[in-house]
Amino acid sequence: MKEKPETYEFKPDRAPLVDKNTYDAWYAESISDPDSFWSKKASQFIDWFHPWDEVTSGSPDDDEGVQWFNGGQLNVSYNCIDRHVLAGHGQDVALLHEGNNGETKSINYKELLDEVSLLGNVLRKRGVKKGDRVCIYMPMVPEAMYAMLACARVGAVHSVVFAGFSSEALAARIKDAECSFIITADVGVRGDKVIPLKERVDQALLQCPDVMHTLVLKTLDNSVPTHYTDLDYRYEVSQVSTQCEPEVMDSEAPLFILYTSGSTGKPKGVVHTTAGYLLYAAFSHACAFDYRPGDVYWCMADIGWITGHTYAVYGPLCNRATCVMFEGVPTYPNPSRTWEIVEKHKVSVLYSMPTLLRSLRRFGDQHVYHDRSSLRILGSVGEPIDPETWYWFLNVIGEDRCPIVDTWWQTETGGFALLPLPWSGPQKPGYCMRPFFGIQPLILDEKGNEIQGKGAGSLVLKGTWPSMMRTLWKDSGRYADTYFKPFKGFYFTGDGAERDEDGNLRVTGRVDDAINVSGHLIGTAELESALTEHSFIVEAAVIGVPHSIKGEAIYAFVILAQNVVETKELLDELNSLVCLKIGSFAKLDTISVVSGLPKTRSGKIMRRVLRKIVTYQSDDLGDLSTLADPEPIEDLLQQFQK
Ligand code: WT7
Repeated sequence: MKEKPETYEFKPDRAPLVDKNTYDAWYAESISDPDSFWSKKASQFIDWFHPWDEVTSGSPDDDEGVQWFNGGQLNVSYNCIDRHVLAGHGQDVALLHEGNNGETKSINYKELLDEVSLLGNVLRKRGVKKGDRVCIYMPMVPEAMYAMLACARVGAVHSVVFAGFSSEALAARIKDAECSFIITADVGVRGDKVIPLKERVDQALLQCPDVMHTLVLKTLDNSVPTHYTDLDYRYEVSQVSTQCEPEVMDSEAPLFILYTSGSTGKPKGVVHTTAGYLLYAAFSHACAFDYRPGDVYWCMADIGWITGHTYAVYGPLCNRATCVMFEGVPTYPNPSRTWEIVEKHKVSVLYSMPTLLRSLRRFGDQHVYHDRSSLRILGSVGEPIDPETWYWFLNVIGEDRCPIVDTWWQTETGGFALLPLPWSGPQKPGYCMRPFFGIQPLILDEKGNEIQGKGAGSLVLKGTWPSMMRTLWKDSGRYADTYFKPFKGFYFTGDGAERDEDGNLRVTGRVDDAINVSGHLIGTAELESALTEHSFIVEAAVIGVPHSIKGEAIYAFVILAQNVVETKELLDELNSLVCLKIGSFAKLDTISVVSGLPKTRSGKIMRRVLRKIVTYQSDDLGDLSTLADPEPIEDLLQQFQK
């Protein structure tokens, strides 16, 4: 076999926005003089109604929090749409929508302006005011994008809830954000599955008396029950005009809340604000994908996740991109679907996820052979990409000519934090390589000392950057405890990282209690509290174990109440409970009934010990000095080594 090189460098096919020298110069300036660096970018990437007084003020870890571009005023929807139309680009395509069954809809910037304005007027007419929270629970249809932009237009704060979440999870998020308005659809279609969105909303609303209206988009001609607070999307937009003044928003006005898993059962409402977020979204999108208007850009993430916010809507539209949005599933009606779409729309940038690539690769390379000559740049996000998948992405999908931008970031960072920009230096399989402008990554040991040079430890970020989360919705205490308490003075990412001898960074995965299933973070506590709601379960512990497609799969240990016997029905019920409380994407792969769980003297479950036992690494269980009682381990070893 041919020896593979350690690193790869790619030749740009046109003069790149950021070459190696530019990267070095900009990075140095972004750290040494952030005010000057970001004010130049802010003038270049954003149209302001009123200029800012100060680039940054405050600090992320003090009571006031950090602020960017204070005094400035702008509107996100104006920046993503109106200004392009005003500059004569109304006919440029904003959205290429690929429906579940292959139907295509093309929407230009002028049409986008009209659609968003109509919906903005509906929101206003129906009583949604600046600062009100609107929950968006939608399939991947153009109206989902309109809904986000319409909220931004009228100054409402959206909270998009991924359409895979159950009605209980939806209700918890509606209540936490105190949403007064919901935008949803009758159903979502994904492959041959029909997802009853409106039905779930109705279920959730039994717990949410403060919601004024549910705006329902009818996508299939089926009859969903209608309540007196429901509004019909198409009827409502037919009753208003396409003139909708964008609200003048302060730089630090909240733009959206997005829930992410935490280390307790309660999800965290990450808050992003207006100016810094939009600037960073647009600037990082342009740099990472060397984006120029005319390029066809396809971000495969669902709008329910942060990737679907920053890199499927706000960043690209602010850059006047042509975005592909796909409603269906990449394997329906056959495993060639993704590559058919690439060929059909002449996609030049494909931003995908390792779990998806692994599942497509499994079907064999014969499915890939559609014309992919339009592809220039490939992107990856969601979890560490294993070298084998990385090579397949490069060699097969990218025909050895497309760079792979492996982007490490989080809901909380708002935008890319670590990534190899496509034409500005080497790439190494599995490595996110280098920081984006303004990002200062550090690796710390357990005591909080910095590890310089080669080494591994906890990944923290120093200082601030424009799209950094501002707080957790109504929970600044938890914000401080989660992100700034573990390592004083730094933002703690919850991830582990290592640096090689050349200074390249690799993110190794979570060091906290989150499990990454197919790129979705799920908190162990969230799962465990769902399981213990079953009256037959006294205790539960959940861990992530390696899985060839999903990255990690969920493994649950449960202790049954006295006199309860293990049956298949009971185990099925437990999985149904998880689907009910969270959603079917959180399904348990394995459930083991055990008699005890290893715990520390302070009562914390030692998940790393459980992980070692079930992955057959019990020869080295690691440090057991804090173990309260050795008996559960002995029992588990017996049980799992049979
Ligand atoms: C966590 C954040 C960022 C958008 C999607 C997920 C893991 C994400 C990578 C990557 C290694 C990655 C991390 C991170 N992660 N991208 N390229 N390499 N790990 O957003 O749900 O907030 O999850 O996903 O563990 O902390 P999220």
